[in-house]
Amino acid sequence: AYTAEPFLPSHGGLPALRRAAADCRGCPLHRDATQTVFGAGNAHARVMLVGEQPGDQEDRQGKPFVGPAGKLLDRALAEAGIDPDDTYVTNAVKHFKFTRSEPRKRRIHKAPTLREMTACGPWLAAELAVVEPELIVVLGATAGKALLGSSFRVTQVRGTVLEEEIHGRPERLVPTVHPSSVLRADDREAAYRGLVSDLKVAARAIQ
Ligand code: URA
Ligand code: SF4
Repeated sequence: AYTAEPFLPSHGGLPALRRAAADCRGCPLHRDATQTVFGAGNAHARVMLVGEQPGDQEDRQGKPFVGPAGKLLDRALAEAGIDPDDTYVTNAVKHFKFTRSEPRKRRIHKAPTLREMTACGPWLAAELAVVEPELIVVLGATAGKALLGSSFRVTQVRGTVLEEEIHGRPERLVPTVHPSSVLRADDREAAYRGLVSDLKVAARAIQ
C-alpha cells in the first residue's frame, strides 16, 4: 500500500518533519508535483487549520494557502477574530494533484483518492502530535474524511464543535467548507458569510 510511514523521522520536531517530507515518495503524487508543501505557521499555535492539498500557487511557492483560496481564508479568519499568529496551516495531502486538458495548458486541481489521503496521513498525524493544537479547523470534505473517516459530511457538522479521538488523542474540531468552494459558489457573498460564521464558532471555542 502507499504510505509515507518509512519517510518519517524518529525525532526532531517540525523542522525535521519538514525536511523529511521534502523527500517523501510514499505515493505517486510526488512525481508530477514541483515540491512537497508542508504545513506552516506557529509551532505552538492553538488553532490548526487543515485543507485538502496544495493548489497551483502553493505547488510553485512551497507554502500552504498562498493562492486565491488562501487570500480568502486570511480575510475570513481576520473577520472571525482568529489571530493568524496563533495558527498553523496545513493540508491532508502534501503534494499537488492535477490534470491538464492539453499539454502545457493550465494545471487543473484533481481531488486526491482515499489511498493518497491515507498514504499522506502520517505527516498530518505527526504535525498534530508536535503542535498539539487546542482546536482543529477542518476545511472541507477531504480534510474531514482524512481526519474523521469516509462517512464525514461537511453539511451535517459544519459550524459545530466536535470531540473525537484522532490518531489516539482526544481532539476538538470545528468543520467548515473549503475556501475554494466559496470562490466557486453561485452566491459568493452568502457562502463567504457562512465560512466566517463557522470560523466564529472556532474563535469562541478557544476563548
Ligand atoms: N487549497 C487547499 O486545500 N490547500 C492549500 O494549501 C491551497 C488551496
Ligand atoms: Fe508523500 Fe503525501 Fe506527497 Fe504522497 S502526497 S508523496 S504521501 S508527501
